Amino acid sequence: MPKIIAANWKMNLRRQSASTLAGRLAKEGRACWFFAAYPHLDVVGTAIKGSQCKLGAQDLSPEIDGAFTGDVSGEMLTDLGCSMVLIGHSERRQGYGEDAARLLGKLRRATQAGLAPLFCVGEIMAKRKAGKAEDTVREQLALLTKLAAVERSRLCAVAYEPVWAIGTGVNATPAEIVPMHALVKSELEKMGLTKQPILYGGSVKPDNAAELLGLAGVDGLLVGGASLEYDSLAAIDDAAKAA
Ligand code: PGA
Repeated sequence: MPKIIAANWKMNLRRQSASTLAGRLAKEGRACWFFAAYPHLDVVGTAIKGSQCKLGAQDLSPEIDGAFTGDVSGEMLTDLGCSMVLIGHSERRQGYGEDAARLLGKLRRATQAGLAPLFCVGEIMAKRKAGKAEDTVREQLALLTKLAAVERSRLCAVAYEPVWAIGTGVNATPAEIVPMHALVKSELEKMGLTKQPILYGGSVKPDNAAELLGLAGVDGLLVGGASLEYDSLAAIDDAAKAA
């Protein structure tokens, strides 16, 4: 299976810079996944039309259309051409207190609206230091057992992102990543999910991408900061092609 490079642009770029970046990579025949900010989805979708790249949102409401000021529904996202959505990113879990019930609502709504969730899991440093990293991730993944099998099968990927490695410049080591990816794989298999790629995320850069992509069980990378510029994202994607 080709390795996947997913770009999480977070609250960055502008319509022009986002569409230029995505369009350039798409025209080169790359197959990246772009998780763009809501106001950029339309232009990024246009820029990658007809290419192998895919468009995703960074969040969605757990509700159907209605009186939810400021929210964006799954149907609005599919209407814009999105096929995927991030759910469970630590910046949402921690920054907005998104608990299991809310994440479950989002997973359900996403699949019902025709979006493939990219479900993110990962422990905070205190849990790792306490020897509870694997328990934390196992518990986060257990949420997926509450979905109907048909909903669960629509996941496009799972990303393991240790919270302490996100945006910090600190990578998890191979000795931390490999067993965790094996755990994620085995938990997913118990739920009948055998095809979903398992991505690593957290301070991925051009100079560590090849090593990370070479680790057992790493099917791709979810890239934040290093996905904002052409040179670094193209270099990471080149590493994926060579892996
Ligand atoms: P980072 O972000 O690459 O900037 O650490 C990764 C992510 O949050 O998905």
